[in-house]
Amino acid sequence: LGLEVNVDYVAAVAIDLAGRVTVVETRSVATAGQPPSTRELVELATDVRSSLIADGRTVVSATVAVPGLVAHDGRTVSWAPNLGWDGREVAAELEEAFDGDCPTTVDNDANCAALAEASHGVATDVDDSLYLTGTIGIGAGIVRDGAIVRGGSGFAGEVGHMPVGDPAALCGCGRLGCWEASVGLRAMLAAVRLDEHATPLRTAMAVAERAATDERTRAALEVLGLDLGRGLATLAAILDPSAIVLGGYFVPLGEYVVPAARSVLAERLPTAELHLPEIRLSSLGIHAAALGAAEHALTDVFTGAVTLS
Ligand code: BGC
Ligand code: NA
Ligand code: ZN
Repeated sequence: LGLEVNVDYVAAVAIDLAGRVTVVETRSVATAGQPPSTRELVELATDVRSSLIADGRTVVSATVAVPGLVAHDGRTVSWAPNLGWDGREVAAELEEAFDGDCPTTVDNDANCAALAEASHGVATDVDDSLYLTGTIGIGAGIVRDGAIVRGGSGFAGEVGHMPVGDPAALCGCGRLGCWEASVGLRAMLAAVRLDEHATPLRTAMAVAERAATDERTRAALEVLGLDLGRGLATLAAILDPSAIVLGGYFVPLGEYVVPAARSVLAERLPTAELHLPEIRLSSLGIHAAALGAAEHALTDVFTGAVTLS
């Protein structure tokens, strides 16, 4: 069972032992400016598990994808600037809700999505790729030789907080100038002056619809694309990825933001002789992190990282 927590929604994807998707469920979380509690996550997880059990199935393991840093234990959220779950023992909370019957791990949302894209999304043909979430926060999953790069303390990929955004923009982490404060979902909605905030995907589709007929919306998205490109150029200079996969809201808005991002990337390549990292749109879309989490849970079983009860 793969679960994804975000600031405004929770999602679940169940896969069978052959990796085939059997359940997909998304629920919006109405938080009125307050960070969500773990209640919605626990409810979704136990509901999906109960219906699978009623169907004659067993849930052997679960992974939760969270919009934040996860401690090396793979069980505790250590820092989640837009969610506020710092220090929460999410794996333990779920294991308890599962009556001690389903070992659970936790990983970063972008890392989960990056693995899903590398195993059967749009990055299967390359060994080095970079996945970028298009959610309220911007996070990266860096894939090198098929595995996630985690770094010394596990925070490799925290690219949303690189100081490459508008120096006056306040980030959910409390600092100024973070990249996600300029190109995250909230920044995008502010740029196109759209207050409506249903599910992230529906909101992004409303923006895409308006962009099709409104020049000002297209202009605002182009400016955002330039900011996106500056961060991508910085990352490309460090990582030289063969492909950059954009997920979340970048998918429905790709035609409006990617050309500007690509032009900055091309201008900033050290020499035109180098191969431009390809910018691709996620094929797994809004469920990429939940699906990656489900695959993580399956891998945990096969590698013995969790012990079946
Ligand atoms: C967090 C990352 C996360 C990203 C996307 C950022 O604010 O720091 O850990 O991957 O948001 O949810
Ligand atoms: Na990451
Ligand atoms: Zn920040």
